[in-house]
Amino acid sequence: MDRILIRGGRRLSGRLPISGAKNAALTLLPCALLTDEPLTLRNLPRLADVDSFGHLLNQFGVSTLVEGSRPEDFGRVMTMRAGRLTGTTAPYDIVRKMRASILVLGPLVGRAGEATVSLPGGCAIGNRPIDLHLKALEAIGARIEFTAGYVKASAPRSTAGGGRLAGGRYSFPVVSVGATENVVMAAVTARGGSRIENAAREPEIVDLCRCLVAMGARIDGIGTETLEIEGVDRLHGATYAVMPDRIEAGSYACAAAITGGDLELAGVTADDLRATLDALAAAGVTVEERRGNVRVAATGRIGPLTLSTAPYPGFATDMQAQFMAMLALATGASVLTETIFENRYMHVPELARMGADIQVRGRTAVVRGVDRLAGAPVMATDLRASMSLVLAGLAAEGETQVSRVYHLDRGYERLEEKLSAVGADIERVGDG
Ligand code: EPZ
Repeated sequence: MDRILIRGGRRLSGRLPISGAKNAALTLLPCALLTDEPLTLRNLPRLADVDSFGHLLNQFGVSTLVEGSRPEDFGRVMTMRAGRLTGTTAPYDIVRKMRASILVLGPLVGRAGEATVSLPGGCAIGNRPIDLHLKALEAIGARIEFTAGYVKASAPRSTAGGGRLAGGRYSFPVVSVGATENVVMAAVTARGGSRIENAAREPEIVDLCRCLVAMGARIDGIGTETLEIEGVDRLHGATYAVMPDRIEAGSYACAAAITGGDLELAGVTADDLRATLDALAAAGVTVEERRGNVRVAATGRIGPLTLSTAPYPGFATDMQAQFMAMLALATGASVLTETIFENRYMHVPELARMGADIQVRGRTAVVRGVDRLAGAPVMATDLRASMSLVLAGLAAEGETQVSRVYHLDRGYERLEEKLSAVGADIERVGDG
């Protein structure tokens, strides 16, 4: 397994390109299932999860063609075509590796009238059930059955037409990004209309809705917590560009802050990470927005913060680990509260091994700033935890070795290349 070696203490400066958003790509890819015409996605990030999702779509007979792009280019163009589905089952061996596989459930039911997906199981940050996905699909007419570790959703055959969802109304008891995505993808080709209340409002949901509208869907309330969807008989193909990755951008903004650097994040939409940028400014970091770029600069130690994660537009849970690494070197004590996932502090013991002073009580972590961190061998456990270890390594004295970097490859396109280009002393070494 590869490791990443970082020799810390260097200020980062320069222009850093932001790739297409992983969490938008993973909900745009399954949209290809909703039509027999080609769906072309541009600005797709080169990530392990994107490749895995393409492999999953192939299981259903979807062709996936990656159009030529020069090796030095970031992002890819992929054209998918679900001309005739050859299957509607997402197998355990794929689903267990990528939780987002559950996002084929809604589009498969919408297109084929049925879908069978392995239950995803938990992951490092919590057990992450799918009950809200299933309740929302039931509310628009799906029948849900469980057999031997799989869940099957189907649209009852009715006199009005074989295997088509009716549409309906569902109000989410808690905000769920994935469940909102699944029910929207199922509702767009339902027989009737659907009203989704307390829907997630993350920018990735907006990206999904915009792509579906480009494919002929009828959705009102995009970007709000209430979505009104009018079912249409069929969707057509489209070409759509994936939005920039707000979490990647926020992560590299933390890299500028923790190294006392000055980075221009290119191609990012500042509003997509407003809470992150506001938190950085509150910590004394300079944040400037300029024509589709965001400049983030720090000249000294940052100040402490009190932050709670929340659904968009609140402070993103996907930024919590990165902020914890940055605040480990702040001038005072910070309090971070993780309200979304029950076990998203796996990075804490590893940061502590580098000298961070962090006390976790339940969902709250108190981070007392220290003067310095020391490089050490550390182990990545999940995607954002591994990024927090990279950030700590960039600021630490000495060498940090981050192992199990396959976690990083799931969400950060060519990380060491991007960081080296702005002055980091970082390299990937393979164990062969
Ligand atoms: C998406 O996960 C993202 N993943 C996550 O990013 C992100 O952290 C999360 O949204 C919150 O913003 C992708 O988009 C691929 P949820 P998702 O459903 O959809 C509970 C990253 O690092 N819940 O909004 O799984 C759940 O347990 C990843 O890029 C239920 O109880 O998140 C959690 O506590 C990590 N029942 C909360 O809701 C359900 O049916 C929010 O989960 C579904 C969720």
